[in-house]
Amino acid sequence: MSINTKSNGSVSKAPGSVIAGFVTLFSYGLLYGLASSAPAYAEPEADRQAMRAHYEKRFSGIPIEAHKDGVYAFDEDAREQWLELEDFPPYEIAVDEGEEFFNIPLADGATYSDCFGDGAIKSQYPYFDEERSEVITLELAINDCRRQHGEEPLPYNGAEIVRLSAYIAFLSRGQIIAVAEPVSEPALAAYNDGKRFYSSRRGQLNFACSSCHVQLAGKRLRSERLSASLGHVSHWPTYRLKWQDVGSLHRRFARCNKQVGAEPFAQQSPEYRNLEYFLTYISNGLPLNGPAIRK
Ligand code: HEC
Repeated sequence: MSINTKSNGSVSKAPGSVIAGFVTLFSYGLLYGLASSAPAYAEPEADRQAMRAHYEKRFSGIPIEAHKDGVYAFDEDAREQWLELEDFPPYEIAVDEGEEFFNIPLADGATYSDCFGDGAIKSQYPYFDEERSEVITLELAINDCRRQHGEEPLPYNGAEIVRLSAYIAFLSRGQIIAVAEPVSEPALAAYNDGKRFYSSRRGQLNFACSSCHVQLAGKRLRSERLSASLGHVSHWPTYRLKWQDVGSLHRRFARCNKQVGAEPFAQQSPEYRNLEYFLTYISNGLPLNGPAIRK
């Protein structure tokens, strides 16, 4: 597989020796450091199975579904503090505000219920829309609904859309992630684009998402343990203590892009939507448990 050097951020020519070791593993075509003879783009379902097998081996004794709680699935000390925070969850206000926004009539008198029924619909997203030939996320669908009913779209980095999606996430708790397997050529292209993004090295650190969250999952990076990719999408939006607010999955993607010294993409850019599509597909079978709390 050729690493996508056209992608964001600089790609350094001489990676440090430690990094080079595991980078080589996925230069051969797979994220997971499996046999180099495997095809560069296996079927999505084979990817999902390989990912599950990778984490089952890496975190033996921890059920795959437990990764919905990120590092708290395996970091005992951090887990205790986190459970204490859950006694008075700081995302609660955002959920309440989201409910209010959800029930405010739109310009033509309709409400979000006309688009989203009772609001427990998070597991329907993201999906690949064959007609539009793009990945539709919940946030995109919220703005589509607004436009249909005479309202301006909301800015994706603003407070209102993240509260609406926090409310919808809350109503959808317990639903199982079940993204339809990409079959058509355009759907597969979007999926593979997200997959390529995940395994492409970028930034001054020359790290791919998979460097930290696949190869090094469970290890420490400075003071932090690194979480597994499975479950990365289950709990958004999330209240981050660092943000002192709820924020979206794409905001977190941007943060991780910046962390390695690469330019982030805009929230809801095609790049991040394809990435979300890939990550959600491989997380099929895990329950939704948003909103969550993270450091
Ligand atoms: C240099 C290592 C590193 C790289 C590379 C990296 N991340 Fe992260 N990421 C972290 C750390 C540290 C955290 C916070 C601890 C944790 O949850 O793993 C984190 C957290 C996350 C989370 C939140 C997990 C949760 O439970 O809420 C997501 C989602 C995420 N990263 C996605 C990505 C994506 C997508 C990329 C590639 C664009 C990426 N990361 C690249 C280090 C990295």
